Amino acid sequence: MNKNEFLKAINHRGSSVFANEKVFGMNYVPDIFNYRDEQVNKLAAYCRCIGNNIAPRNLLLTGENATGKTTTLKYFLRLLLDEFSNVEVIYVNCQMDNTPNAIYREIYREVCNSDGAVIGNTNTTLLEKITENLKQTNKILIVCMDDFNRFKSKEGLNDMLYNFLRIHEVEPNVQISIFTISYEEDLNSDSAVRSVFNRSTIFFEQYTQDEMYGILKNRCEYGFRPDVISDDLIMEVAKRAYKRRDIRHGITMLRDAGLRADIEGSSIITKDFL
Ligand SMILES: Nc1ncnc2c1ncn2[C@@H]1O[C@H](COP(=O)(O)OP(=O)(O)OP(=O)(O)O)[C@@H](O)[C@H]1O
Ligand SMILES: [Mg+2]
Repeated sequence: MNKNEFLKAINHRGSSVFANEKVFGMNYVPDIFNYRDEQVNKLAAYCRCIGNNIAPRNLLLTGENATGKTTTLKYFLRLLLDEFSNVEVIYVNCQMDNTPNAIYREIYREVCNSDGAVIGNTNTTLLEKITENLKQTNKILIVCMDDFNRFKSKEGLNDMLYNFLRIHEVEPNVQISIFTISYEEDLNSDSAVRSVFNRSTIFFEQYTQDEMYGILKNRCEYGFRPDVISDDLIMEVAKRAYKRRDIRHGITMLRDAGLRADIEGSSIITKDFL
């Protein structure tokens, strides 16, 4: 292969099967979001009080892997922010932001609209700046911590939770709520934290095989060109995903099958590509 042929191959943008490959990406938040109405309704019910400028209860979203906890929360937050202007939301994933300082920095950047350097600021300074800003704007702050059980230091975590959850005792007009995605037994909190961090639980049960089929069919409609994959084959993928109790596995299988079909130049996905 000469350089021109290589450049043609590597820059080839058209796909024989994909209409939008991003639809199969792991961070994709679908526009149509079925089977989680119960959980979205509960989130809405807990957040109704924001309309009266009252912070919602602290929440725990829990359930097995790939039951839609992260997607549901992100989907809900998008709707919430469209509706209310008196709320500030921070979403962090504790696999990445797993120290108090990382969380304080994220909140500071968002709340204080700051792109400036925050390194070197102590947690106390950052909390002071955040509090001052919340006081001025009179906004409720919701801190969402995904994969909460991945947080590194339990001691640092207790201090931070204590600061957030008891902030109203020193600053009566500042309100902070904490939404976590985690397991039930995720925290060895000290009693001072426990007494203010009594979270309400929203449970995410595993999807049925039919629900998995529905989710995967929807992805195919948005992600593939028309008539690329048959309903029977989508059902086969749903069966395999259900066996593993993992819808993520099904989505990945569809994307990989699409990539294989693409490489072969095929405009349909057959069982051979699974
Ligand atoms: N109801 C749904 N409709 C469409 N897609 C969904 C639905 N539920 C989950 N998904 C998709 O399944 C994948 C896994 O969902 P998500 O990441 O939200 O699960 P999770 O419960 O947070 O998993 P984990 O516990 O492993 O973090 C994502 O790609 C998501 O888009
Ligand atoms: Mg998740």
